[in-house]
Amino acid sequence: MPAVSQSSSSGSPAVAGNAGKPGKSSTADKASKSGKGSTAGKASKSDKSSTAGKPSVADIASKAEEPGGTARPHIVALANFKGGVGKTTTAINLAASLAELGHRVLVVDLDAQANATAALFLRGFATHTVGDWLLGQVPAAEAIRPWPAEAAPDQAPLPLHLLPAHVRLADQEEELRQRPAYEHLLARALAPLAPAYDFMLLDCPPSLGPMTRMALCAATAYVVPCLAEKFSFDGLRLLTQLAAGVTSRHNPALRLAGIVFTQYHPGVRNNLHQDVVLATEHVYGPAALLPAIRKDVTLAQAQRRGLPALRLRPDSNAVADYRALTQALLAALAG
Ligand SMILES: Nc1ncnc2c1ncn2[C@@H]1O[C@H](COP(=O)(O)OP(=O)(O)OP(=O)(O)O)[C@@H](O)[C@H]1O
Ligand SMILES: [Mg+2]
Repeated sequence: MPAVSQSSSSGSPAVAGNAGKPGKSSTADKASKSGKGSTAGKASKSDKSSTAGKPSVADIASKAEEPGGTARPHIVALANFKGGVGKTTTAINLAASLAELGHRVLVVDLDAQANATAALFLRGFATHTVGDWLLGQVPAAEAIRPWPAEAAPDQAPLPLHLLPAHVRLADQEEELRQRPAYEHLLARALAPLAPAYDFMLLDCPPSLGPMTRMALCAATAYVVPCLAEKFSFDGLRLLTQLAAGVTSRHNPALRLAGIVFTQYHPGVRNNLHQDVVLATEHVYGPAALLPAIRKDVTLAQAQRRGLPALRLRPDSNAVADYRALTQALLAALAG
């Protein structure tokens, strides 16, 4: 059973219930209020360094060398076999929402499409990437980039870092797969970074291949973004089957943190949508449904500008929904 403590509603489909009132003003307000407070506090350490160019990177390097660190961040994989379901959009906006609460967040772009990299930093900035790092060609401190990028110097920093991807990851993936016990490479590479972060969000490609397997082996939990349509549901089922295999063979600590329906549009809810939500509830239980994200063009607009949505339109539905999702995820992970 999914280890999820956050349900969106009890009677009718939980997703519909949540998405119908995504404003859930109390949650959003709480998030934004506590965001202000705690960001100002906790984030300040990392902020100071990030303005210096490669800040926290030095900070990370020194923390990574601290022996015997016991801190254990939540490592959350965003995965679904199906493409275009909102994995990347959820990774970066969840990351920003956690960061505004003062959590130190690392986004790891595991997709050769490099969409998370482009959406946070625009293209062409990354010298060293996640593939170089996993192959042992560069240390983490040289690959990790603090947000905002040099390209957006007007943005106040968040305690948000990225391990960027590049299209050459497509070739590197095969090289990685041929290494002995490759499934554990990412887990081993992330371990020394643990004291530097509260959350690591792993943005997976739309496949059940080596990068997704490595992510599930490294993760403490996974979230499955999903569209309320059949193929997306099929992708969810295949992904959870893969995760079950990873749990039994490699990573017994892995648990499903929840399923999040994205691009939800209450106005066009139809029978098929209802069927998918009910089928999801039936298979995974209502508690597995996290609050839905409404369809909102703000998300694509923000990605084109290299910004999380909360820096483009903090009053948008998308930002309210991702703040509500953040609260639900925090509750699910704590439960
Ligand atoms: N809630 C939303 N409202 C409107 N558009 C959205 C929403 N979520 C995602 N999108 C858009 O849908 C498209 C696909 O989203 P995204 O890239 O996050 O999916 P993905 O699952 O990461 O895709 P891939 O499998 O290719 O990596 C993007 O153009 C994104 O801007
Ligand atoms: Mg993606």
